[in-house]
Amino acid sequence: MAEVMIKLDNVCKFFGEKQVLRGANLSVEKGETFLLIGRSGAGKTVLLKNIIGLLRPDSGSIFIDNVDITKLSNKELEKVRYQFGLVFQSSALFDFLTIEENVGFFFYQHTNLKKSEIRKKVKETLALVGLEGIEDHYPYELSGGMKKRVAIARAVIYNPKIIIYDEPTTGIDPIAVDKVVSLIEDLHKRLAITSLVVTHDLEVGMKISERIAFLLGGKIIFQGKKDDLKNINDPRIMQFLHGSSAGPIKEMEV
Ligand SMILES: Nc1ncnc2c1ncn2[C@@H]1O[C@H](COP(=O)(O)OP(=O)(O)OP(=O)(O)O)[C@@H](O)[C@H]1O
Ligand SMILES: [Mg+2]
Repeated sequence: MAEVMIKLDNVCKFFGEKQVLRGANLSVEKGETFLLIGRSGAGKTVLLKNIIGLLRPDSGSIFIDNVDITKLSNKELEKVRYQFGLVFQSSALFDFLTIEENVGFFFYQHTNLKKSEIRKKVKETLALVGLEGIEDHYPYELSGGMKKRVAIARAVIYNPKIIIYDEPTTGIDPIAVDKVVSLIEDLHKRLAITSLVVTHDLEVGMKISERIAFLLGGKIIFQGKKDDLKNINDPRIMQFLHGSSAGPIKEMEV
């Protein structure tokens, strides 16, 4: 049996009166690229934030590499966070720092490595994402597609066990999308890393992932191989995949 890297067991999350996650169950295997889909507002980002420990669930368990992180103190949780590389919805680079300082941020903040050593690591990682020689530039000098790749470089530089991508291809042109997709696939092959991807771009999602989960009404209503998703005849999933306004999923339902 494949080893499990991320496991959610009956996770519930409230914001005040509003319940976003209603007993979500999920299991991501070691080394796979896993896609999470669902409507806008369904709670995908909230679910990711619970996984990386930025939010804590109100009930349920979250196992990361067999450790239940809901039982950890804030200090212990901080350490767990370094197991994750994060590529957020917006690239979230610091505009006032150079690309080197952005990509090497983790090392500048959390280690005593010399500047020359950090620079070397940054250079190697930028080469990995196909962006050599931009160390001394600032984010505002880069295109949106390049910024996404810099964000990916920043996420992988410290060899995380897991990469979380939240909308890695939003807001960039189709050629840049293709480059980011190839990069995600390439990193996955080269680093044998576990990847959890959220995207509204189903074509991209289907291309890079092996297995998929669909979040609706705060629960994972489907989890399985992407080929099985196509054969399923749950009308809610069919409606979502076909992007149809007619069907069992109501306008306001997420
Ligand atoms: N910190 C917060 N406080 C209160 N409500 C929140 C908070 N974070 C998220 N929510 C609510 O939780 C719900 C789910 O939000 P979330 O950002 O997870 O959606 P999503 O599935 O990622 O949507 P999208 O596809 O548009 O990114 C939304 O109704 C949102 O308003
Ligand atoms: Mg989101």
